[in-house]
Amino acid sequence: MLEDDFGREVSGVRVSLTDRCNFNCVYCHNEGLGDTRGPMDPQDDEMTADEVVRFLEVVAEYGVEKVKFTGGEPMLRGDLEEIIRRVPDGMEASMTTNGTFLPGRAEDLKEAGLERVNVSQDAIDPDAFAEITKSGAYEKVIDGVQAALDAGLAPVKLNMVVFEHTAGYVEGMVDHVAENPGLQLQLIEYMPELTGRPEWNIDIGRVHDWLEGKADHVETREMHNRRRYYVGGDPGADDGSDAGMVEIVDPVENPNFCANCHRVRVTHEGYLKGCLNRNDDLRSMGDMTRDEIRETFEETVANRVPYYGEYMIKEEGEWVVNDKYIDAPVAT
Ligand code: GTP
Ligand code: 5AD
Ligand code: SF4
Repeated sequence: MLEDDFGREVSGVRVSLTDRCNFNCVYCHNEGLGDTRGPMDPQDDEMTADEVVRFLEVVAEYGVEKVKFTGGEPMLRGDLEEIIRRVPDGMEASMTTNGTFLPGRAEDLKEAGLERVNVSQDAIDPDAFAEITKSGAYEKVIDGVQAALDAGLAPVKLNMVVFEHTAGYVEGMVDHVAENPGLQLQLIEYMPELTGRPEWNIDIGRVHDWLEGKADHVETREMHNRRRYYVGGDPGADDGSDAGMVEIVDPVENPNFCANCHRVRVTHEGYLKGCLNRNDDLRSMGDMTRDEIRETFEETVANRVPYYGEYMIKEEGEWVVNDKYIDAPVAT
């Protein structure tokens, strides 16, 4: 595996297949690309299936063992099953989706080799859901989660961004996963700087404290140093469901999150990116040969810098660019 200057091995890649989406979530960070295009604009500049597969085959040579497909909404790609079918042997394929297209398609994805899915579900209430996603597809998402469970795409992780609109639903969602084997919950710290609405932020530390009191067992996951809380469940459950598992994804406030980041990203246009939060490190893969992809991948890894805590540091309560990197501005 390739390692960057901060000792972080790159074990996974996160590949955006499109920036189109059938939702328009009020918090959407567009995978760090900002909101210049808007998630609803159709794009014709997406990587082809051949380009995605060529990239995955090259990084597999470097020991990359996981690929996460994401969007926009990756299920808007009609060739998703083909791409998944062609993921190199031994590489775990998972996907993050808004869930609306899973009914009727989850089994095909499983059959193509998809191992598991993360589905955005920010509230357990249809009205709140509609307000956040600007869509009336709540029932479809619930059906999508069930379709994924039925197809064996387990565990299904529910992604919930914790911010002003959702804070009142955290307890209901925690109870929901504690009561439903096969489901896990990811409580995601809101990243306000990517949406321009800082006033929606809430202190994720409060959620940690509350879960600390409620959980029967707590662990720390190596990837991103994420805390895992087991609520009313048995972490060693024989059915593999990890019942009641709640993970907090807290890039901003967890001082070791970025220090434990083992992924590089690819935008839907085929740009390699060392960090979600930085757009000044884009390297285009365009119509590259395999050798050129190798070179680009090695260069991207060599340039990786942990974002929070290294590239950005806190001064008097404010995040500022570390003086060391002042000549490499962030273009988000
Ligand atoms: P698994 O738990 O392995 O399935 O992956 P994941 O939780 O990272 O995947 P998912 O796509 O569901 O992402 C959940 C949240 O984590 C999203 O809000 C992502 O933007 C965020 N996230 C994932 N990786 C990173 C990262 O490297 N940096 C930052 N800042 N956020 C990330
Ligand atoms: N802050 C935190 N998480 C976000 N997501 C999208 N925008 C933001 C943001 N501003 C998450 C959603 C989705 C995943 C791909 O990214 O939960 O599931
Ligand atoms: Fe953005 Fe995902 Fe919501 Fe689509 S479903 S608008 S990509 S956060």
